Amino acid sequence: MSTTLSVLLSIFLLYCAKKYIDFRALVKSIHDHPGYRTLLPTRGLLAFISTKPIRGITRGGSNGWKRKYQDFEDYGTDIVSSISVLPKAHNIFLVADAAAIKEITLSRAQFPKPVKQYAVLTFFGKNIVASEGEDWKRYRKIAAPAFSERNNRLVWEETVKIMADLFENVWGEQKAITVDHAVDITLPIALLVIGVAGFGRRMTWQEDSKLLPDVFVKLVTPDWLLKLGVTERMKRANLAFQELEACRYMLEMIHARRYAEKKEERYDLFSGLLDASEEESDGQAKLTDRELLGNIFIFLLAGHETTAHTLCFTFGLLALYPEQQEKLYQHIKGVIPDDRLPTYQEMNSLSESVAVFYETLRLFPPVINIPKYAAEDATLVTTDSSGNKVVVPVPQGSDVGLSVLGLHYNPRYWQDPYAFKPERFQGDWPRDAFLPFSSGARSCLGRRFFETEGIAILTMLVSRYTVEIKPEPEFAGESFEERKERILRVKRGLTLMPVRMPLVFKRR
Ligand code: HEM
Repeated sequence: MSTTLSVLLSIFLLYCAKKYIDFRALVKSIHDHPGYRTLLPTRGLLAFISTKPIRGITRGGSNGWKRKYQDFEDYGTDIVSSISVLPKAHNIFLVADAAAIKEITLSRAQFPKPVKQYAVLTFFGKNIVASEGEDWKRYRKIAAPAFSERNNRLVWEETVKIMADLFENVWGEQKAITVDHAVDITLPIALLVIGVAGFGRRMTWQEDSKLLPDVFVKLVTPDWLLKLGVTERMKRANLAFQELEACRYMLEMIHARRYAEKKEERYDLFSGLLDASEEESDGQAKLTDRELLGNIFIFLLAGHETTAHTLCFTFGLLALYPEQQEKLYQHIKGVIPDDRLPTYQEMNSLSESVAVFYETLRLFPPVINIPKYAAEDATLVTTDSSGNKVVVPVPQGSDVGLSVLGLHYNPRYWQDPYAFKPERFQGDWPRDAFLPFSSGARSCLGRRFFETEGIAILTMLVSRYTVEIKPEPEFAGESFEERKERILRVKRGLTLMPVRMPLVFKRR
């Protein structure tokens, strides 16, 4: 018995010694760059043992939202390392330095996407978001032309119609419209817009549920996807039917559009993708139906939730800051003094709307961390808190997280970073320190789509309604700070989302 015990003990000690040696080697390889040194990893189930950092044990799972710039402040540098020991020695660099981020996003081959982390997004087939290398190049080449000027114009015109339809036929004569959670308005708006400008399906507020199969609506509400991600493949069997139904529906759409007798001129994303996928260029193969399916699905996913939640945060912030709302209203009235509908040409004059969106996206970026990894040995340069230059060795295989929150709350770039100040986006502002749409070759393809849609919605809404926080007796005695905390509370799904945003829209 004692021999067994001593053998087990020796094995355990050897295991510990090996772990320690690996850990020391990793620390040395990055010149002991400041940061976390923990037993437990930052990803996977073990990471969720605590949501708060415990010195030497864990960095704390899913606490990125709370910490924002805190890690960088604590370690006195805008690049922080995070070395964990179990299950094997591993390092992640967290980066909140604008110049270093620029270098990373411009060097796609040196710092590619860790596609394994995106596996859950390939549920309907390989796609532009979840791929790298040659596949990604082919998808991007085919997808990019779909986001054309003609498509932007379509986004604008259709969004304006959707908002006019909402005001006239849904809200009608009501003087005040109260919602318990503003996403009940922003999710359907974004769905109607992506429906028509993304997929060529024009729907109205009254008939959308009749025209859209259930599964299409479910698809844009990706709770199921998230659950799938958490429980990995366990839920697959349950979802098999749903998947089949969705595939059938989308394949029917592809077929109908491909073999339509009279080919119309259409500028929705789906038609653009279909057209481009049929042309064989440079000897490259067109998309298979499955790839088409995967990419259509990802447009829907990437474009719907991000847009709806950003709009929701924007309304919440304008309700909390009526003076900013008034400023925006006056600006809009300056551009469009009468009651007519805003035109696409006027979009560029609505700079105040852009500023409000950008400030919302700075404070509440839907994607708070963008993962990359070092495909080869590299170095990054940053500065420490005393302003000294620091060269950080980044060994091949290191994970690199672009901390969108760290960057957006970094006081080196943004004065008073917690304050809502849209005016900081008027005139000169630090463009490299603004990353909601990522940057470089892998930046968001739908940025202009979102901006066009968002500006149209905000302009239409603010020129006709005021937005206020819904009065609720149980919160009557709260201070402004308490109210702000309650209204702007977030949770993390696939993207950052508001927990509950009770608002009232009052006719001007
Ligand atoms: C507020 C709105 C939006 C935000 C904040 C946003 C943010 C992002 C971010 C951060 C990425 C990079 C993701 C990564 O590296 O993993 C991305 C990529 C992408 N986005 Fe968006 N997005 C928005 C709206 C849209 C819309 C409306 C569409 C389409 C209709 C869209 C389509 C895409 C596509 C296709 C990519 C992949 C680009 C590539 O990898 O080459 N996005 N987006």
